[in-house]
Amino acid sequence: MSELHGRIAWVTGGARGIGAAVSLGFAKAGATVAAMDIDDKALQTFQTKAESVGLACRGYQGDVTDAASITQVVTAVEADLGPVDILVNNAGIIRDNMFRNMTAGDWQRVLDVNLTGTFLCTKAVIEAMAGRGFGRIINTSSISSLGNRGQVNYASAKAGIIGLTKTLALEYARSGVTVNCIAPGATDTEMTQSLPEEARQRFVRKIPMGRLADPEEIAAVHLFLAGGAASYITGQVLFVDGGISVGF
Ligand SMILES: NC(=O)c1ccc[n+]([C@@H]2O[C@H](COP(=O)([O-])OP(=O)(O)OC[C@H]3O[C@@H](n4cnc5c(N)ncnc54)[C@H](O)[C@@H]3O)[C@@H](O)[C@H]2O)c1
Repeated sequence: MSELHGRIAWVTGGARGIGAAVSLGFAKAGATVAAMDIDDKALQTFQTKAESVGLACRGYQGDVTDAASITQVVTAVEADLGPVDILVNNAGIIRDNMFRNMTAGDWQRVLDVNLTGTFLCTKAVIEAMAGRGFGRIINTSSISSLGNRGQVNYASAKAGIIGLTKTLALEYARSGVTVNCIAPGATDTEMTQSLPEEARQRFVRKIPMGRLADPEEIAAVHLFLAGGAASYITGQVLFVDGGISVGF
């Protein structure tokens, strides 16, 4: 039987990049997947792709910063597919600038999507998971949580996600719900494709493995954390970064 057979997974930011790779990877492993995204067009493209390869993924339009939108999505997912067993808090954005030029608006939006979005989506399902005695929450930090010039908003949000992960892991440890976090290094998605080529190359030179990650290499770790092999792991942060977080 496939690893995630019978599981319902909710993946935020699931239409593109790492989230799409997670959604397709989970569906290949037997889960039924609700891919939520703010971008309707990307969702349609994603859904067509999933259908063309016969995978059980359904798209839901929604915004992780908006509690009403989340309630609407969760209600629809539960009615269509059943209660959520696995939540992947993946939706994220960057709005980079050096601190001196960072506006309060860009600070707030990046915290809202990355950190508050994780809080709100988790709040929408974790108590029910605990009530059923099973749940897997997989959050998304970043190598930038260690500090990165030009990303004070993003680094703060991604460091905050680590604190949130560890605290929830403790609060829910006895209820069958594990809470872990993946911290990807630079990964080849629209997020990094939007950077100037020169900045991308500069970054690649710093990576011990000498290349960006493919989204599927990050999604493979989500699959591990969602599956039976990770049943005794909670509160952990897994850096999946080609070695860039070690050495100096
Ligand atoms: N790409 C990288 O190098 C990298 C590195 C470290 C961490 N991450 C993190 O991994 C996650 C996925 O990144 P990616 O590279 O696939 O990015 P991406 O931009 O390719 O995809 C992000 C997805 O999130 C969706 N999204 C944005 N705001 C949303 C909102 N308010 N509500 C719902 N959906 C929303 C977007 O529409 C998009 O489909 C993010 O949390 C990102 O911060 C990425």
